[in-house]
Amino acid sequence: MLILRPIHHQTLRAAPLAEPRVPVSFNTGTARIFDGIDDSRIGKTPLSSGSPGVLDTLDRLDKLDTPAAPQKTGPAAIATGRAIRYERPMQDMPTANPWLAAVDPSPIGETRRWVLGRSFPDDKPLIDLAQAVPGFPPALELRRHLGERLLDPAAHGYTPILGLAELREAYAAHLSGFYRAPISASEVGITSGCNQAFCLAVMSLAQAGDQVILPRPHYFNHDMWMRMQGIEPVPLDFRPGSGAVPSPEDAARLIGPRTRAIVLVTPNNPTGAVYPAATLRAFHDLARARGIALILDETYKDFLPEGERPHDLFDDPDWRRTVIHLYSFSKVFALTGYRVGAVTAGTAMMTEIEKAMDCVSICPPRIGQEAALYGLAHLMPWARGNTRALGARADALQAGLARSNRWRLVSIGAYFAYVEHPFDGRSSIEVSRALADRKNLLTIPGEMFGKGQDRFVRLAFANVADDRIAPVLDRLERFTL
Ligand SMILES: Cc1ncc(COP(=O)(O)O)c(C=O)c1O
Repeated sequence: MLILRPIHHQTLRAAPLAEPRVPVSFNTGTARIFDGIDDSRIGKTPLSSGSPGVLDTLDRLDKLDTPAAPQKTGPAAIATGRAIRYERPMQDMPTANPWLAAVDPSPIGETRRWVLGRSFPDDKPLIDLAQAVPGFPPALELRRHLGERLLDPAAHGYTPILGLAELREAYAAHLSGFYRAPISASEVGITSGCNQAFCLAVMSLAQAGDQVILPRPHYFNHDMWMRMQGIEPVPLDFRPGSGAVPSPEDAARLIGPRTRAIVLVTPNNPTGAVYPAATLRAFHDLARARGIALILDETYKDFLPEGERPHDLFDDPDWRRTVIHLYSFSKVFALTGYRVGAVTAGTAMMTEIEKAMDCVSICPPRIGQEAALYGLAHLMPWARGNTRALGARADALQAGLARSNRWRLVSIGAYFAYVEHPFDGRSSIEVSRALADRKNLLTIPGEMFGKGQDRFVRLAFANVADDRIAPVLDRLERFTL
């Protein structure tokens, strides 16, 4: 009988299997299995539950040349790459998955709590620059159409797992037109929002212990999802003066045996930076040459200047070996609450994605699909009108920030401005918190987009009416710490 010796209070007993054991982290406290492995080779540092301890463990496993095998049971087997049976005595209450528990709370929820329960005077209302949401409702004709659809008794059940056939056809046609390259309905799947598309893509590509290259600053949900899966995000910082565009050469140096993918978001959240087509091509070629995937989140593609094709990746039929493309209907048709997005990949990967989708969602919400279908057929001109209006708003904010000799604009897109705050030595959380408390401006601190971002603050201005841009600038300018 193999005894697991926990560092804290729990006693675990494991029935030995044929294979040697390696250290694992359990839900509470820490346990190590000392069977078949020289403990001195793995170091004496106790493993904490959750990352970075778990990822440390996996690092050390690599050094021990312990290959990861398909996983069969819970965290123990995930960490070891082998099936381990173990018994656990009764506990007072279940404990959380340590990978999940180690992830910080959602920045959106966290910053919202800063202003929860407060009331704001008429002459200084709260201006919410935190969440990326359109500041207008869906088109009236869309709302009328959905009202009609709801009366149809046949419009309320599950749809196929990857979405309504008509919507997949319409979206594939939309992509083919936008990128001027043929993409078929079997290569697209509808998801419950782009966040879910990302989760499915990562789930289909990577397992615990793998690495994925993630440019920093990152969209926080990308980082959070990977960490809670035990997948290690490897940060890729942009170089000063690059306009917040990461370098494929720098990425090449980060690729190792555990790397499964590179994630790119363009136009970017949080910086707003639009990555040049040549950079996207270089990232694609790098991923292709190294046999890893390129996950490309183009949630904000419809906010690029009209008629501009952001890249030529779909020109090459071989894109199917490398690219997993993600999209959201949330912003373009102002449907954030409908939860409808899409994933595009080669059919082999779509087969895997479909399995994952079935388990997490059965199908995307039907009403969201109806809305996206109507939008693609009728609302692209409406969306382009919104893009022009947002462009004017971005211009006003950019001009105002350019006049400031305190706040420095790092980059700006249709939805976000990423700015450097003027307070040397003060953390961005302190700055954002004080902006909320004293200036009634809700922003997201740079630190929530990754380490080393404490000089920055993100302003999501898409949901701020044009006449609020001047007060935003004024409050920033008068703000002191
Ligand atoms: C880059 C990026 N991807 C995905 C999403 C989520 O989109 P959805 O509402 O479709 O889940 C967002 C939303 O802010 C985003 O900025």
